[in-house]
Parts: sequence; structure tokens; C-alpha cells
Amino acid sequence: MRKLRLAVIGAGAIGRTHIALARDHALFELVAIVDGSAPAQTLAAQIGVPYHTDVAAMLSAEKPDAVIVATPNATHADIGVMCLAADVHVLVEKPITDTLADARRLCAAADAAGKVLLVGHQRRYNGILRAARGIVQSGRLGQLVSATGMATFLKPDPYFDMAWRRRQGGGPILINLIHDIDLLRFLMGEIDSVQAASANAVRGFEVEDTAAVILRFKSGALATMTVSDSTTAPWNWDLAAGESAHYPRQDVNTHFISGTHGSVTLPRLEVWEYRSDRGWHQPLTQERIALHDTNPYAEQLRHFDAVIRGQEEPVCSGVDAMRSLQAVLAIHETAASGEAVQIGD
Ligand SMILES: NC(=O)c1ccc[n+]([C@@H]2O[C@H](COP(=O)([O-])OP(=O)(O)OC[C@H]3O[C@@H](n4cnc5c(N)ncnc54)[C@H](O)[C@@H]3O)[C@@H](O)[C@H]2O)c1
Repeated sequence: MRKLRLAVIGAGAIGRTHIALARDHALFELVAIVDGSAPAQTLAAQIGVPYHTDVAAMLSAEKPDAVIVATPNATHADIGVMCLAADVHVLVEKPITDTLADARRLCAAADAAGKVLLVGHQRRYNGILRAARGIVQSGRLGQLVSATGMATFLKPDPYFDMAWRRRQGGGPILINLIHDIDLLRFLMGEIDSVQAASANAVRGFEVEDTAAVILRFKSGALATMTVSDSTTAPWNWDLAAGESAHYPRQDVNTHFISGTHGSVTLPRLEVWEYRSDRGWHQPLTQERIALHDTNPYAEQLRHFDAVIRGQEEPVCSGVDAMRSLQAVLAIHETAASGEAVQIGD
């Protein structure tokens, strides 16, 4: 079986994770890195991969089968559409884009080209989340009633040297909370409406540093989520779930999902339930479900190959990811107005 020719566009923080995985890969040949920065050029030279500063020039010179787009959010649509128009499959980092109009444009380009458009909501490939979803779908928790999630962490000051991270759209709602929204959608189904408050009281940037959100799901379940990039706290998926060695792991829970007949915590996967008589005067039992760690970025890349070859259905298509974007854009809107915002179909 021929390896697929893969280019990585954007060799910044997450692009380097993709590059590290794509080097010496069983299914992909890394044929190009595209970026305009000196560190990216140095990296390409170090690992002996052709370097380009321009996407169009790379497409015609290297003729990749597939690309990973890991550039700033506002560039995803233009770069993705250009690649799809050149008959190249696209795995674009989350959020799919930063506007719904751009997301629709990107999805339409994939349809028109008949090419794969996957979106990098990598938590969906994590064994922990998949096991939790299996528990929910088995009915063990009964009817889902509520969820509470925390995404509180501290981004170091140099992170904000990149100007786009200080401006609207570069903050933790779109960059980080979208992962939690996508996680909750994956577990609990579609969101009906959102209400939120946001603040920039710590960093004072144009963009928020903190937000508190209430979500109403179409099923009738309710959830709350808190996100902040300005707190000294362990309660966030990146620290707790062990997806990346860049984060020192903390053995804490970050998401608490409750149903009429049981609850599950993530990422520790503790299932709480009554074994006989039910009610808060009865003893609750706790079962911890043990799992081996998986690398969701590696699993996502394997899946990209399988979807391109027609062997698997997309775990996170463009249209699916657009609904997570729609929810976070609605969260921005409700945080500004104070009014609940309905999510359209
Ligand atoms: N899935 C995840 O876990 C995860 C984690 C971090 C970031 N992200 C997403 O990945 C994207 C990139 O984030 P980051 O933190 O790596 O950003 P970054 O700023 O560290 O890196 C972006 C890179 O893109 C390059 N770039 C900018 N415009 C370009 C263009 N037109 N063509 C080619 N290269 C260009 C920049 O030079 C830079 O090297 C964002 O959409 C972000 O939301 C996803």
C-alpha cells in the first residue's frame, strides 16, 4: 500500500506535534512543511523535509495527497479551500474556522471536491472519552440529567506574545472551551441554548480570560462549564487526561456527568451508582474503570488515513465541528448580551 503524501501547514505549537507524529509514519510520508517563520525553516532543515512559505507553491511543487492545517484560526478557511480545490484531503485544526460563514464555505469546498475534511477535535480519539461515551450509550447512567466541567489553568505570559491570542477570537472560549463543548456534545448530544458571562479582569486584553457557561441540551439535560487561562489550578483536561507530555499530569477529575441511575467522572472514569436500594440515604458504590493511555493525536492521524481510503466514517466531520463552533460563537454572543442564545439547526 502506497504511503499518502502529507504536508503540514503551520509549524507552531500544535503543528510540531503533527510533524513529530508524521515523521517516519507507517501510513504517511511527510513531504513538506509550510510556514513563514524562521524556527519552522530551521525545523524543516533539521529533519530534512522540503520547506515552503507559500501554500499554493507547495501544492504545485510537492503534490501532496493530504494536508494538516495548523495555522491561526482565521486562516483555516482560505488555506483549506485552496487545498481542497487542488484535490487534497484536509485535516484542519480546531476550531474549524472562526466564523460560521467560513465554516460553511470550507464544508462546501470539501463537498464540491469530494475530498475528506476532518477537524482536529482530538479528544474524540481519546480512549477515556470513548469509554465514557460507551457507558452513556449503554444506558448505565439512565437518563442524562446534568454535567459540570472545569477548564481552569494558567497560560504563561509569553503565550500572549502572538498578537492574535490577545484579540477577539484568540481567547480561551474559542481556543480551549471549544474542546470541552465538543466533548460534552460527543457525550450528551446536541446543544439547544447557551447562556454565559465572560471577563478579562486578570489580563485586561481585548479578549476574555475567563468565562462561565450554562448549556441546555436538546435532550433536556443541563451543564455548566468554567474556563479560565489565568488561574493556578489543576482542573483542566490537558493536565488531567495525559494527552500530551508537554503537560505535567495531575490526577484529578475535570468533568462530572450525572444521570438518573449513575454518574461518571472524567478523566478518572469513576462510575457512581446504587447497587440495590436507591436514594441519598443509601450507600453509593464507585467503580474505577482502568484504561491504558492512548495518544489521541496518533489515533486521529491513523483515522485520517482510514477515512481517505474509505475504510472509516469521519469521527469529526466539518459539519459536526461546525456545530461546536456554532455553540462557542453563541457563548460569545450571550456573554456580550447577557441573554440566552438559541442554537440554530
Ligand atoms: N488540537 C489541539 O490540541 C490544539 C492545540 C493548540 C492549538 N490548536 C489549534 O491549532 C492552530 C494553531 O495553533 P498554535 O497554538 O499551534 O499556533 P502558533 O501560533 O503556535 O502556530 C501557528 C503557525 O502557523 C504559521 N502560519 C501563520 N499563517 C500561516 C500561513 N498563512 N501559512 C503557513 N503558516 C502560517 C505561523 O508562522 C506559526 O508558526 C489554531 O487553530 C489552534 O486553535 C489545536
